[in-house]
Amino acid sequence: MSDPQPVYLSDYQPPAYQVTHTELTFDLDPAATRVKARLQIERHPSTDSQAPLVLNGEHLTLISLAIDGSPVSDTAYQLTDEVLHIADVPETFILESEVEISPSSNTALEGLYQSNGIYCTQCEAEGFRRITYYPDRPDVMATFKVTVIGNATSEPVLLANGNPIDQGVLENGRHFATWEDPHPKPCYLFALVAGNLHKVEDSFETVSGRNVALQLWVEQENLDKTEHAMASLKRAMAWDEQTYGREYDLDLFMIVAVNDFNMGAMENKGLNIFNSAAVLTHPSTATDAAFQNVEGIVAHEYFHNWSGNRVTCRDWFQLSLKEGFTVFRDQCFSADTNSAPVKRIQDVSFFRTAQFAEDAGPTAHPIRPDHFIEITNFYTLTIYEKGAEVVRMLRNLLGWEDFRRGSDLYFERFDGQAVTIEDFVGCMAEVSDVDLGQFMRWYSQAGTPEIDAHGEYDYAHGEYHLTLRQRTPATPGQADKLPLHIPIRMGLVGTKSGQDLTLTLSGEKLGSDAVIHLTEDEQRFVFSDVAEAPVPSLLRDFSAPVKLHFPYSREDLAFLLTHDSDGFNRWDAGQRLAMLALDDLIAAHRNGVEKVMDSRVVEAFRVLLTGSMSDKAVLAEMLTLPSEAYIAEQQPIVDVDAIHAAREFVRQSLAVALRDEFVAVYKANQSDDPYAPTPEQIAQRSLKNVALTYLMAIEDEEGVAFCETQFAAEHNMTDVRHALTLLVHSNRDDIASPALKAFGEKWAHDPLVMDQWFTIQVSRPQSDVLERVQYLMQHPAFSIKNPNKVRALIGAFAQNRINFHRLDGKGYTLLADVVIELNRLNPEIAARLVTPLTRWQRFDEERQQLMRDELVRIKQEPLSSNVFEVVEKALA
Ligand code: TRP
Ligand code: ZN
Repeated sequence: MSDPQPVYLSDYQPPAYQVTHTELTFDLDPAATRVKARLQIERHPSTDSQAPLVLNGEHLTLISLAIDGSPVSDTAYQLTDEVLHIADVPETFILESEVEISPSSNTALEGLYQSNGIYCTQCEAEGFRRITYYPDRPDVMATFKVTVIGNATSEPVLLANGNPIDQGVLENGRHFATWEDPHPKPCYLFALVAGNLHKVEDSFETVSGRNVALQLWVEQENLDKTEHAMASLKRAMAWDEQTYGREYDLDLFMIVAVNDFNMGAMENKGLNIFNSAAVLTHPSTATDAAFQNVEGIVAHEYFHNWSGNRVTCRDWFQLSLKEGFTVFRDQCFSADTNSAPVKRIQDVSFFRTAQFAEDAGPTAHPIRPDHFIEITNFYTLTIYEKGAEVVRMLRNLLGWEDFRRGSDLYFERFDGQAVTIEDFVGCMAEVSDVDLGQFMRWYSQAGTPEIDAHGEYDYAHGEYHLTLRQRTPATPGQADKLPLHIPIRMGLVGTKSGQDLTLTLSGEKLGSDAVIHLTEDEQRFVFSDVAEAPVPSLLRDFSAPVKLHFPYSREDLAFLLTHDSDGFNRWDAGQRLAMLALDDLIAAHRNGVEKVMDSRVVEAFRVLLTGSMSDKAVLAEMLTLPSEAYIAEQQPIVDVDAIHAAREFVRQSLAVALRDEFVAVYKANQSDDPYAPTPEQIAQRSLKNVALTYLMAIEDEEGVAFCETQFAAEHNMTDVRHALTLLVHSNRDDIASPALKAFGEKWAHDPLVMDQWFTIQVSRPQSDVLERVQYLMQHPAFSIKNPNKVRALIGAFAQNRINFHRLDGKGYTLLADVVIELNRLNPEIAARLVTPLTRWQRFDEERQQLMRDELVRIKQEPLSSNVFEVVEKALA
């Protein structure tokens, strides 16, 4: 068998044949579903009349094939595992085919499969080819008419995209429903759902006065967990009208929740299919973070109706066209709905940890890759989150009003088309006259740019000289990088006044907060009329996805922490201050020197805790130390034990020094109000629980009692889970074990809560975790076929840095064993799960060797193209 081969962006050719209309009939059966397709096909005007028709098709059993009503003879077509070739076809014709597929044995969860007995589909990116023979590419757009036939008892509900146009009873207890979607769409947006589902209904009146029926379909026991998703959907619909002028375009919008799903959710036209974890919430089962996640994902999928569906991607290299834009849109929606600064802090904090790590590893790629083997491997943080950062930079470069005009032009000009990133950026340039030529490099260059900044105050002339130097490190396949256009939002904060000074650059007054443009390798900016010595506040609101180094002193950072007018940079100053202290402690740990706590960090925290800061949500973020994963990102070689020890030392030192303050904050933020996922309540709970985290760092008796009471009160899952986590992660097994047991028994029937139960246990720092993982893999609530379970147990274990990276290599072996098993069942999830092993270059030599050994062992297996691509890159 030969290795899977990549496809290249530069090889793009428009489709030789278009499908203008698609009719499908599904006769459902778990092991033998029949799919009849009737495709209206037209040869592209520029296609040679001899060109064969090539259709994708995988895991299909062909039953029959006809053109314009006549069977295609056996010699007139060729069939491989991947394509159906028909040599001689007319200019326009009807192709009819019938195939058989087996949804019940589909463990890859691509194409048509069953989840808990419910038939559902996942076609993005290339799943439709597992349903029928078809040109499975996004630039082939057709109208669809779909008939679904099922058992009236086991599949009372039969759904597909668009509007229901017919239904009826058939023989043998069967019934059918027919759906029509008037909007031409690529087949990756096709969806079908059939099963015993129950609906919650609501409606939305659009800005032009049309009434849209909203339906949320779930299993009966989940009917009480839909309120928040429905409310989020309505807010998202209103927001997209107000903010982007985008109105919904069908009379019906449906969301379905299923338990087995590879990702968060899918934007199928009019029929979004969701991972149940991304829809279902109830105060007693879902945390604040889960509520916010649901709101964001519901909005994300809804926003795709325009950014993705009405205007779609020409090819999968353009994936960030729809994903980067849509993530940016959902981030802004969540910022508007909740606390904007906290949303930004959380997004950037995640981005700098996870996307920076991806950019620094062997699978680094630009937000528009130029080749891939398996497109599902490219649903990455780079495509999604860095893509969103690049759209955000465009918004900032143009200003909101021009950006909105560019967006309007894009939706109007390309409605119903499959387009490219150039088309999008072109609209932005056209409406604004901003030259985005150099900016386009963000789309093609991988890696995280690093900026070295230096500043000097010239007292004599009242000038501040800022020198910025950029470099982007080499990434696989891209040795040399060109300078990028990097917008840097900044201010100069006067050390005497504590105020932002007016920025005057080359005689031009820019105001007290301005954007400077770094476009060269190195640039010097001279600010004049600077009346007092300033501390620069750079990259405000994280104005570009870069690493910015500035030789701040701890005094500078303590000053910015309290005086910066930019909330994001106040938080970042605290993170930088903590990082300086952590760096010293990591070095002390490695050198076997006694650890000493930096009193400036303690004093900064004291100011925060006793000060007048009114935004509790931001305060909670400021009191949160950088995560072990983030700290690791800052080290040249990751020493997992030193990082853990240093961070714990800081947590404990702060708890000892500020115990009474933490107790006071904990007590002051108690509430008996009924749970609501409001920004105010969430802020209060976050702050209270951060305080409790510190108290439990020293296993303070009062803190332990708070945990016990909070757990037992069962007020809401946020508080219960936090208390249980702190207990399980402490050494108080006497209290933790019975609590964990009670929790597991109470929620044994609820898969989403059991996911949390798994994660809590395998994230603890104690050294028995590996054995726990092995034990829990046998637990009846665990299934390797369910992606949520794999993420909750195995994925969470791989995030448990000190235990996953055990020096005996058993953590790596366990992960590799699961990857090998999943490779056969669900290649998409297997390829994601292997990620931690691919980061081997970041560790010491002993661990490098152990990690590589496991990658080599995986490589010796007969691999899916998904896992092959990742492992191949990791070992290159
Ligand atoms: N388009 C989906 C989103 O952004 C992503 C998605 C859902 C997906 N399921 C998938 C991508 C399966 C690849 C494979 O929300
Ligand atoms: Zn998306």
